[in-house]
This record gives sequence, C-alpha cells and structure tokens, in this order.
Amino acid sequence: MPESFEVSMAGDEKYYVPDQSYKEQAWTKDYAQSYKEFLADKTGFWENQAQQLEWFKKWDKVLEWNYPYAKWFVNAKLNITHNCLDRHVNNHRRNKVALVWRGEEGEERIFTYKKLFHEVCRFANGLKKLGVTKGDRVCIYMPLVPEQVIAMLACARIGAVHSVVFGGFGVNALNMRINDAEAKIVITADVTIRRGKTIPLKTIVEEAIINSPSVEKVVVLSREVDQPVELHKELEIDYYELMEGVSAECTPEVMDAEDPLFILYTSGSTGTPKGIVHTCGGYMVGTYYTTLNVFDVKDNDVYWCTADTGWITGHSYVVYGPFAVGATVVLAEAVPDYPDAGAFWKIVEDLGITIFYTAPTTIRMFMRVGEEWPNKYDLSSLRILGSVGEPLNPEAFEWYYRVIGKNHCPVVDTWWQTETGMQMITTMIGEPMRPGFAGKSLPGVVADVVDKRGAPVAPGNGGFLVMRDPWPAMLRTVYKNDERYKTYWNTIPGCYMAGDLAVKGKDGNIMIIGRADDIIITAGHNIGTAEVESALVSHQAVAEAAVIGKPDPLKGNLIKAFVILRVGFQPSEKLKSDLIYHVRMTLGPIAMPSEIEFMDKLPKTRSGKIMRRVLKAKEMGIDPGDVSTLEE
Ligand code: PRX
Repeated sequence: MPESFEVSMAGDEKYYVPDQSYKEQAWTKDYAQSYKEFLADKTGFWENQAQQLEWFKKWDKVLEWNYPYAKWFVNAKLNITHNCLDRHVNNHRRNKVALVWRGEEGEERIFTYKKLFHEVCRFANGLKKLGVTKGDRVCIYMPLVPEQVIAMLACARIGAVHSVVFGGFGVNALNMRINDAEAKIVITADVTIRRGKTIPLKTIVEEAIINSPSVEKVVVLSREVDQPVELHKELEIDYYELMEGVSAECTPEVMDAEDPLFILYTSGSTGTPKGIVHTCGGYMVGTYYTTLNVFDVKDNDVYWCTADTGWITGHSYVVYGPFAVGATVVLAEAVPDYPDAGAFWKIVEDLGITIFYTAPTTIRMFMRVGEEWPNKYDLSSLRILGSVGEPLNPEAFEWYYRVIGKNHCPVVDTWWQTETGMQMITTMIGEPMRPGFAGKSLPGVVADVVDKRGAPVAPGNGGFLVMRDPWPAMLRTVYKNDERYKTYWNTIPGCYMAGDLAVKGKDGNIMIIGRADDIIITAGHNIGTAEVESALVSHQAVAEAAVIGKPDPLKGNLIKAFVILRVGFQPSEKLKSDLIYHVRMTLGPIAMPSEIEFMDKLPKTRSGKIMRRVLKAKEMGIDPGDVSTLEE
C-alpha cells in the first residue's frame, strides 16, 4: 500500500452548476450551513433526524461510542416497518402508490401503501406459521419482484434477520451464505426472467441446501403459472399457499434500536464473504435521512433505483429509505438493452420517473449505443439523477448530465458501501458539481483522505479514504467474526478504513480512485479476487490461480485470471471456456472471468503469497513498483 501519493490534476477544475431553483426548494437548502450545524452538535444533528420518525420508546442517549463499537439511540424501541408502512397507512399516504413493478414485457403490478402493508402482514403471519421468530435468520434468494420486497419487510416485521442473496449468485456462493448465517428458511422462486428467457432459481437452491442442516423449509414463489414447478412437500411450500387463511394485520415486533435488522454478505480479501450486520434504529435513521436529503424526495416524486434488492443499494435505496420517506418506488425486473436499448427510457417516459438512480456501467453502456435511444423518449419528468457503485468518470458524468438530465438535473454521485449502510459522500442538490469527484461528506458524516498513520493528506494529494466519526447506519460487526470487524477500525489509527484510495481536491471535493485491496469492482459489483481464485482451483484441471481486475472502459474492471494447470492437463480454448463455465456454476455469472491466461509460474513473494499487483502491472504495461519481496 502506498503511504499517500501526489496527483497531477492538470488544473482541470471544471464545475457544473445545476438550476438554482432546485436548491431553493430542497430539504437541505444550504450545504455549508447544514454541515456547520452538524459540526456544532454532532449527536444533536442525528437526534433531529431521528425525531422525524416514530418510535415505540425514545432513546436514553443518542450515541454510546466505545471505540470501535457504537450504539445508536440507546434503549430506543421501534420497528422499521412501522415507519415504512403503518406511519403512512395511518395518515395521508394510505392510498398513495408505494410500489410499481414493471416486467420486461411491460407488465405492471401496483401496490398502494395500504395494499403493501397488508401483503407484508400476511406474509409475516405466514412466516410465523413456519415457526420463524425474532432473531431467526431467513435467506431470500429471489428475482426482482414485489414478493422479494414483501419478504424482506415481513422478516423485519417479526424481527427475523434477513440475508438477501443476489439472484445472480451460483450454488457455492449461496451455500456458503446460507450456512454462515445458519438460515432456518430459504425463500426463492421457480425462475427469474432475463432477456425473455426463464432461468431456474429453485434448482440452484436445491443443490445449495444439500449440506445446509439449518434449513427447515423452502418457500417457493411460482411464477410460471402455466407450468407450476413441482414442490417436495416435506421441505417446500408455495409462497401464496403459506399466506392462505392468515390475518392481514400483524403487530410489529418491538425491536431494540441495536437488534440486528439484516445480514448482507460482501466480498473480502479472503475466499469467505463477510456477513455485514446492520441494526434496526441507526440504519432506519441513516437511510431515511439520506433518501430525503440526497434525493430530495417530495410526495409527488416517482423514484426509480435500478439496483437489484440483493445488493445494499437495493436494501437502502429501493426498500428501507424510500419507504421510510413514503416515496412512490419503481421496481423493474428489466435490463437496459432488452427488448432494445430504449428499455429504461421507456420506463422513465411511461411512469413519469422524476428521480433516477443507476450505476456508471449502465451509463457507459448507454453512451456506447448512442444518444438516439434516450432521445426517442420524453424524459422531461426527470428532476434528479443519481450514480453509485464505482467512479463516475468525467465523460460519463457529462453525458448523463447533458443527454439524460438536459443540462438542468443535478447529478448526485453517491459514494458509500455495504458496510456504511447509507450514502456518505456526494454533491448535495444545487451545489456545484465537479466531474470525476463524488463530492464532500454529507452533513452527519466526517470523511477524510489520510496517509497510513491517519494524518490528513495535503489538499490535492491522494491517500486512503476514511471516516473519522461513527455514523448511525454503520455496520455493527461481521457476523460471527468480530475480528474481521475490528480490522476496519484498527488499520489506520482512529479511523474507519473504507478500503478505497481517494484524492482530496483543494476545493474539499473527494475523488474516488478505486480499491486499495484485493476487491474488484466490476460493473459496479464487488467481487473478491480470492473468491474467484478458490472457485477456479476447485476445478480438477487447476493447480493455482491468480485473479486481477483489469481496467475496462465499460465495466470499470474486467476479471482476468492467470491459471497454472495440473500435470496432465493441456491449455486449450475449450478448457478456458470450461473454467469460465465452472466459475459461473459455483459463484454465479457476475463473477465469471472475461479472460483466462495459462501460465507456468506466478509471481510470488518468498513467503509464497501471489503478487497480484505484479501481474496487474504487467497486464497494463506499467511499472510494478517495489518488487524486492519477489522470489527469484
Ligand atoms: O470502491 C467503492 C465503490 O464500491 C465499493 C463498495 O461496494 P459495495 O459494498 O458493493 O457497495 C456498492 C454500493 C454502495 C466502495 O468501496 N463505490 C461505491 N460507490 C462509489 C464507489 N466508487 C466510486 N464512486 C462511487 N460513487
């Protein structure tokens, strides 16, 4: 890891200033003033946010900070679904549209807050029938359909801890996550639908639970009504059958602010993913505050975040944050290029989307297919554009602002992580936007760029991105592995280390460069090199593997694998595709290497550790830096 580094920014200090009317009517009108207020009374700031929500019992203390352990809203009692549903059903949002689901062929399902509330209660009562109680872990492995959202909220209603696994993960990845969480129930669907094809999901679950002794029941949503999937009655139960005869009311479980709400697995530097644990109170306040202030949600907005609910973006900004503010949320089981490259823009036009949140990879894909696609549609409803998951490069920013935002919509490039639970850095609505830079700390957050010792780098220089203070939606631990949690806080003295390299501009804006560790951000998804390597070496032909992220103009990074074969196996194109298929089946399509290169030897340290950075430098044709530890 570098100590810190100097950056040449060639004096390119171009700013875009969105229409100032945005600022005048925004919830946060004056960023500098709000930030000043936060600094003057940090816990008071968060207390004010928490006061806007309903609690069964208020806190004794806002924050108890016992480095590196934080408790927020100490002894407060709540249920997040009360704030996401009951609070709206009991007031003027009762008949407001909560959720609009769109399928690939334009099919639509609409839920008002009242309808969503009853569906959640019914499914919660169904889970209770299965013996699910507070603290039990429930794994949700589903396509992007309303039932997935309902299942999450139903778990939260009864205090069960959900662990959502993205539907693009394969057998081993799912098995590992089910076993680590010791999930009692798995909720799935027969199929997921992508580009007009049905892809089986339940068969993956069947394989994944062969060695999962904790699983008592599998709940299956049947989507292929014409060809209903056969259920094994002793283990499996139909989603809607479970809801038969149950009440449409379900008293919310009284949760302590620090009770776990969910576990979400993310990649780490070892082959085993980390179960990031989020709790009820702080997470609710953090996602509520950011949804309201970063996206500036108003009651007549139509909000669409294109992320899958299987990722943190979906948890915080499809489900909990938007429902906590009472937004109308669009959920689309859609890909940007099916049936054609106008798919997303048709949804914007049809539904009158006002707030649109997506990933840079998607924006770059649209840039490639050309402006004529968005230009065919009426995008005038759009008010605010968001980006998340990877750096939004200046070219993509400019295109997004000009072609989609018609030179007036603010673009909020939001930096955050599974671990942070909520957005941490952005350019607030109406503030000058600097392409390439995510922005500044949100009021409520203290982000900085520091050297290895935790000292701030000089403006204009680069270093490690850290948080100096705890924040309400922060992870509380890594499930069953508190040692791994501590490394976030004890690598750089006094700080939470995000794992990203960043540059602090002289104007205070922060530019995110990329990961400082062995995690690859590919198409906005977070994949550990070690996970892909262990998937590769589980193939009979592979003796050793090393995986790197190779910069790519579209996806940010591609996964490239260097492979040493076992004696008796010969390199061939056929073997390359076998290996890629093998990774697809074990980890899932999102982790498939784009390139495989067969090697006789891998660069290693004298202690035997593969030096991925040397491989990466060679691949990119750059200087590998210090190679003094490289073995002869
Ligand atoms: O490297 C950063 C990148 O995504 C990582 C977090 O990944 P994950 O936990 O999967 O969460 C993604 C969605 C919040 C970060 O460490 N990242 C996220 N947002 C940005 C980003 N990199 C640059 N700019 C962003 N806006």
